[in-house]
Amino acid sequence: MHSPQFDALTAEEISRTAAAIKKAGIGGKRPGFGSVFTHEPDKARLRAGERTPRQARALILDRTSAATYDVLVDLEQDAVVSSVALTEGGAPMLAEEIEIVNEVAKADPAFTEALAKRGITDLSLVQLDPFGAGSRADIDLAGRRLWTCITYFRHFEDDNAYAHIVEGVIAVIDTVRREAYAIEDSGVKPMPMTCDNYTPEHNQPMRADLRPLDITQPEGVSFTLDGPQLTWQKWRFRANLHPVDGLVLSGVEYRDGGRYRSVMHRGSIGEMVVPYGIPEAAHYFRGAFDAGEYGLGRMANSLLLGCDCLGEITYLDAVMADDDGEPSVIRNAVCIHEEDAGILWKHTDWVTGKVDVRRSRKLVVSFIATVGNYHYGFYWNFFQDGHIEVDTKLMGIVQTSAFPDGQAPSHASPVARNLAAPWHQHLFSFRLDMEVDGWRNSVFQNDVDGEPVGPANPYGNAIGVKRTLIAREQDGDGLTSPQTARTWTVANPDRMNAWGVPVGYKLIPGWAGDTLIAREPSLIARRAGFATRNLWVTPYSPAEMHSAGDHPNSDRSGAGLPAWTAANRPVENTDVVLWHTVGVTHIPRSEDWPVMPVEVASFQLVPNNFFDSNPALDVPGSIHDHCASGDAAEH
Ligand code: NI
Repeated sequence: MHSPQFDALTAEEISRTAAAIKKAGIGGKRPGFGSVFTHEPDKARLRAGERTPRQARALILDRTSAATYDVLVDLEQDAVVSSVALTEGGAPMLAEEIEIVNEVAKADPAFTEALAKRGITDLSLVQLDPFGAGSRADIDLAGRRLWTCITYFRHFEDDNAYAHIVEGVIAVIDTVRREAYAIEDSGVKPMPMTCDNYTPEHNQPMRADLRPLDITQPEGVSFTLDGPQLTWQKWRFRANLHPVDGLVLSGVEYRDGGRYRSVMHRGSIGEMVVPYGIPEAAHYFRGAFDAGEYGLGRMANSLLLGCDCLGEITYLDAVMADDDGEPSVIRNAVCIHEEDAGILWKHTDWVTGKVDVRRSRKLVVSFIATVGNYHYGFYWNFFQDGHIEVDTKLMGIVQTSAFPDGQAPSHASPVARNLAAPWHQHLFSFRLDMEVDGWRNSVFQNDVDGEPVGPANPYGNAIGVKRTLIAREQDGDGLTSPQTARTWTVANPDRMNAWGVPVGYKLIPGWAGDTLIAREPSLIARRAGFATRNLWVTPYSPAEMHSAGDHPNSDRSGAGLPAWTAANRPVENTDVVLWHTVGVTHIPRSEDWPVMPVEVASFQLVPNNFFDSNPALDVPGSIHDHCASGDAAEH
């Protein structure tokens, strides 16, 4: 469904949303705005021709009581439609809470005493990394707004703090009461003292043999941008930045002949979690829900030309509500550019010697979110042959732990003297609301396998494909299976290609198919249940947008995918949503220190009998005429 009704809120709409909430007195005299975003209309109502008013949603923190409200605002009436006080979970972190945890901890005598025991007196060089408190069963969250903070130390202002963990000191800070809930000291361990920095002044000499590599498009780019609507080659879609979900692509369609055919209604992150696997008391609870606890879009970087993206770049600004509900612009938040992508297709006619080669080009739409020590880049790549590749790039500095001389760290890799990087996972849950050539779709699991030798396979060479319909939510185990080349196809059973096969798009998982390792009784296992499968299939529901529920910050209820799918609803020939977990288990290497080389985890959505033949035969032989039916020997 390609419609501006799904676009992000404008600055003016954010202001009116905030005004309506303040006027209604929700969240006290000075409500904190954890996130403000478009309340997308119900697709079923739109399809039925009903008029749906423009609405906004906001997660509001009462800065005096820690109560959180999930508020719906009608932007045509400038009025609050509903306001629900949460009994589980909270709003994403406000920007000011980073400052509050620092102020409160550093003013607390128990904290400064614990630091003094470790020889630290200059508090300006102390860094606190706040994690949500939801995974600590021993902490009572009732009526509180709590963050469990890991303590790091810098030897100078620009020092890499992660090289010096203040092991054993945890500050549990209430950012509403502005007090320490607890200062925990599980015993002094030696602090790793080696400075490890990644900046040029600490890494001389630099290489001197790189010559410039410039990318120029002298006639300009091949895409057009109309507000958030992007048109490139035969693709069109809308690109918006959501404060929680980050980049949202909606109304993704491919022009085939004279008409646009739908592929996906909406694609974005549904949640992600980074659970740490180190069982010590000062570490075990680390596990960030980077979307719902911090807001991927709110943490979007302003991108630097020639650094984050190279070539002829177009940027989209994004507008977000700040802590007080005022619109605030993130410049250059979304990067749009074209890249050469190698060969699209090639054939050399070995009889005539004629060669045809087509260069592949891709359109890349991306953004990067900084969540504490890590940065996550999300790249949606659109190709001329109708396929989409989604790359997630992991960047930044690993969290650390300390260990004494003469010992080996446990559940962590040594990366420097006395310093280790705990083993952990990055589990990305993509929500893919598919609409393959219409909204009525069915999902099939495809497994390639041999067949038993017998009358149907007398020579033992047969290759079979087992296609299993996912008729209900709990069908199949939802896990990747490289040995059977497992993929999942979203097909429209009512639309056939020219060869009598239902049109479809195939989800091809990448190599990063890990699922959640944590188990009961850990709270993270309950809170991140979405990450126990690589694939979930649900029937579209406007209330089901986030894999761990809408308020995962401190939510211990097990909300989200495991709860919804317990009903085992039918998902055949209906409006289906795929939820794909891309999982990286990060056993850090010494090469990941002091800053990790980028790690990429990908998946693809590939047309599968969607077209009658290769849709990219009409791509010309690039600017070099000799790429099309030329004789290689003549050039
Ligand atoms: Ni990692």
